[in-house]
Amino acid sequence: MIISAPTDYRKAAEAKLPPFLFHYIDGGSYREHTLQKNTDDLADIALKQRVLNNMAELDLSTEIFGEKLNMPIALAPVGLTGMYARRGEVQAAKAAANKGLPFTLSTVSVCPIEEVTPAIERPMWFQLYVLKDRGFMKNVLERAKAAGVTTLVFTVDMPVPGARYRDMHSGMSGKNAAARRILQAMTHPQWAWDVGLLGKPHDLGNISTYRGTPTKLEDYIGWLGANFDPSISWKDLEWIREFWDGPMVIKGILDEDDAKDAVKFGADGIVVSNHGGRQLDGVMSSAKALPKIADAVKGDIKLIVDSGIRSGLDVVRMLALGADLTMLGRSFIYALAANGQAGVENLLDLYAKEMRVAMTLTGAKNINELSRDSLI
Ligand code: GLV
Repeated sequence: MIISAPTDYRKAAEAKLPPFLFHYIDGGSYREHTLQKNTDDLADIALKQRVLNNMAELDLSTEIFGEKLNMPIALAPVGLTGMYARRGEVQAAKAAANKGLPFTLSTVSVCPIEEVTPAIERPMWFQLYVLKDRGFMKNVLERAKAAGVTTLVFTVDMPVPGARYRDMHSGMSGKNAAARRILQAMTHPQWAWDVGLLGKPHDLGNISTYRGTPTKLEDYIGWLGANFDPSISWKDLEWIREFWDGPMVIKGILDEDDAKDAVKFGADGIVVSNHGGRQLDGVMSSAKALPKIADAVKGDIKLIVDSGIRSGLDVVRMLALGADLTMLGRSFIYALAANGQAGVENLLDLYAKEMRVAMTLTGAKNINELSRDSLI
C-alpha cells in the first residue's frame, strides 16, 4: 500500500488488523458524533497565508516540563497498544524517542512499565486512571517513579466507560466474542503470527505485575467498567499528589471552569480532550473547546490537546488555537499496526514535513509565533 499522507495509515491498518482491533481503535462512543466533529471542526479552522518573510530558518522544537522536544507532539496513552503490533508499546516508545518526543504508557497497556523504560533512552510519561483498587494505584506510581518516569498524566474523563456500540458488532465484546476473534485472527494470518503468537503474553501488563497473575483481556471493557471508580473527585487527585512529586497533567478537560480548578489544584498541565470521541458523545470537539480554555488559563498551566489530530496541519491549527503541545492517539496506532516502529517514525516525519510547510506559509518561524493571528 502506498503511504504518502499521514492519514493513509488508517487504510493500511484496516487491511492488516482483525476487525475487532481495527474497530476498537477506529470507533467512538454512541453514534460517534463527537468523533466526527473532532476532525470536521479542526478541518474548518482556516489558516492565514503570509508570504515573503524569509522563512529559510524554521524551528519546530519546544520544551515542556524541562524536557526538550523536537516538535510539539507527544504520543498519547492508548490501552492495548501491544495488540496492534508485537510488543507494540516498546516499538512505539522507541519510535517516539528516536524522533525526540515523549511516549505516554497507558495504565492498561500490554507491556508493563518495566518492559518499556529500559528499551528507550528518553524518560517516559505514564498515564493513570482512578481505579477502585488504591493499592494498585500506589504500587504503579512507585514502580513508575523507580523506572524513571518523568510526567504523570492523570485521566479524569472515564469514571464510567462510554458505550462503544461498534465493539459489540466487531467481536471485541458481546455474544461469542472469543470465537469470533479467533476466526478473525485466522483470516489475518500476518497479524496472527506476528502479534497474536509472537507478541505474547497478551495481558494487562501493569496490573498483572501487581497481582502476580495474568489479567486477561477476555472482557477488557467489562474489566474497565468493574474497576473504574465513579466516585472520583478532586480529593483523589490530592491523594495522588502525595505519591507523585513530578509534573502532573490532568487529562480529559473540556470546560474552562474545570481548567481553572486544575490551575487552583496546582496541576502542571491539562489535556483538553474528549477522549477521542470515545466517552460522552455529543460533547464539544477539542478544537471548539480549546480557545475558551486558552482564554481562561493560558500561561498559568501547560495546554496539551488531543482528539481529532490527524496531520501536521492539524498540529499547527491546534497551536494557533492556543495549545502548547499536541497528543496523537489513533493516528500513531494506525501507523504502528501498519508497519511497527518504522511506521510510527515515518508518520512523525510526515507530520514534521507538513508542519514545516504550514509554518512557512503562515509566516511562523517557531512554534511560539503561531497564534490566533495565524488564523482567519
Ligand atoms: C480507553 O481509555 C478507551 O478509550 O478505550
